[in-house]
Amino acid sequence: MVQSLKIRRTSGALGAEISGVDLSGPLADGVVAAIRQALVEHQVIFFRDQILTPTQQVAFGARFGPLNIHPYVTGMAGQPEVMEIIKEPSDKINFGGGWHSDMSFLETPAIGSILYAVELPEFGGDTLFSSQAAAYDALSPGLKATLETLNAVHSASREYSAQGTSAQKRGSMQVAEADGYVGEFVHPMVLVHPETGRKALYVNPAFTLRIDGWKTSESKALLDYLFQHCRYEAFTTRFAWAKGSVAFWDNRSVWHFALNDYAGQRRHMRRVTVDPWPKMARARVAAE
Ligand code: SIN
Repeated sequence: MVQSLKIRRTSGALGAEISGVDLSGPLADGVVAAIRQALVEHQVIFFRDQILTPTQQVAFGARFGPLNIHPYVTGMAGQPEVMEIIKEPSDKINFGGGWHSDMSFLETPAIGSILYAVELPEFGGDTLFSSQAAAYDALSPGLKATLETLNAVHSASREYSAQGTSAQKRGSMQVAEADGYVGEFVHPMVLVHPETGRKALYVNPAFTLRIDGWKTSESKALLDYLFQHCRYEAFTTRFAWAKGSVAFWDNRSVWHFALNDYAGQRRHMRRVTVDPWPKMARARVAAE
């Protein structure tokens, strides 16, 4: 079975398409290990022509770690680990329509996300991915050394608090406002990947509020610089979905961005999100 897996790189910085595997069935340990190896090596992997029920998607995801239940997005009835990411023709805003790393606003951020395409617009709706390992590699030794000493504060406050703007505008998605204080969590600005040892930048425009110990105004210049740098075209790949496509990305080294260029059409995806195992403890900080 492992021998039938074919892995083809899709871009210079990240991304590989894997064929020769049916994700719906029980997978041998060796196949799961090969997929995991491809994920950490290529940072985002793609599969085509899959047919997955929500239960099968949960079973596939669970081979890589415990599945996350999103604190603000209501999961499927009876299967809370499955997020339905839907943009109806009448919706203006899409879910994930800005560069981010999933769940960096949690104390223990998700390690991976598995997205399955159920229904797609006739055109558009691609997803962009950007390698934060490549973004780190391209920095000067001086800035690398500085960033390695710094932590950043992440929070869901911009996206999901009552004051957050995007949550209310997402239309049909079952996105709840956070009930009260959403918490702030500190993560290193440079993550050392626990499986590959490769370093990657770990800040993102959606959830990173400031550098720990710095004022928001002091942090802004450096974070703005990094947010610009981290999406440089050479660090990216773009995935054009078809019904039955699956993308599996490593949130520890990849940003992603769901394009919203299909006004008036429907797009329906299902996501399961893999938590670390065991969970790592992170510091919780008070609001600034
Ligand atoms: C997400 O941010 O998980 C959504 C990505 C997409 O719908 O392409």
